Amino acid sequence: MTNLDCDYWFPTPIYRTMVSNYQELNKELLLLIREHKEKNEGIQGSNIQGYHSKSDLQWEPIAKVLCDTMRKIEQAEALTQPCELVELWYNINPPQSHNANHTHPRCDWSGVYYIQTPENSGMLHIDDPRDRAHMTLPKQKPAKDISPMLWRTTHYQPTPGMLLFFPSWLSHSVGINLNTNTGDNADRISMSFNFIQGWFR
Ligand SMILES: [Fe+2]
Repeated sequence: MTNLDCDYWFPTPIYRTMVSNYQELNKELLLLIREHKEKNEGIQGSNIQGYHSKSDLQWEPIAKVLCDTMRKIEQAEALTQPCELVELWYNINPPQSHNANHTHPRCDWSGVYYIQTPENSGMLHIDDPRDRAHMTLPKQKPAKDISPMLWRTTHYQPTPGMLLFFPSWLSHSVGINLNTNTGDNADRISMSFNFIQGWFR
């Protein structure tokens, strides 16, 4: 037998970057968030006990950072029409809150930007999107001993300034905030967003 080759098709991209001026940006966003939350009721989304703002925020300069990143992803994904930022909101997860498994329907690209991530405040969990691959679960060696190409689930440990983009159909969830402190510093705070490609123009 000659070499046994393996071709991996249909990869699931998750774009990841650190925003360069995130300390100043996050200070500004925290002020905006505190002021906004005083005046506005949250909504019910994937949040379990946490606060989910309305998604109509138009906050510069975070919107600029997101749109600049989207331009790079359009190039990488060979998109022929630009994607527009259509929704932007923030999430505050105090201890014991989390976000249930969900997708972002009717959108093309979604993601999250991290502002405050106390210790043990919840990782971002990503599920294998190939639903039919869950029909069988052959026993495998532990994840740490095998190629990430073989993993069936993965996660990200968020840090302030981290920005992730992923296809809106990709199912994800946020772990329970198990931070044991009290007060505002125990809150996990992030912003989420949706882009839609303007293919109809
Ligand atoms: Fe989400």
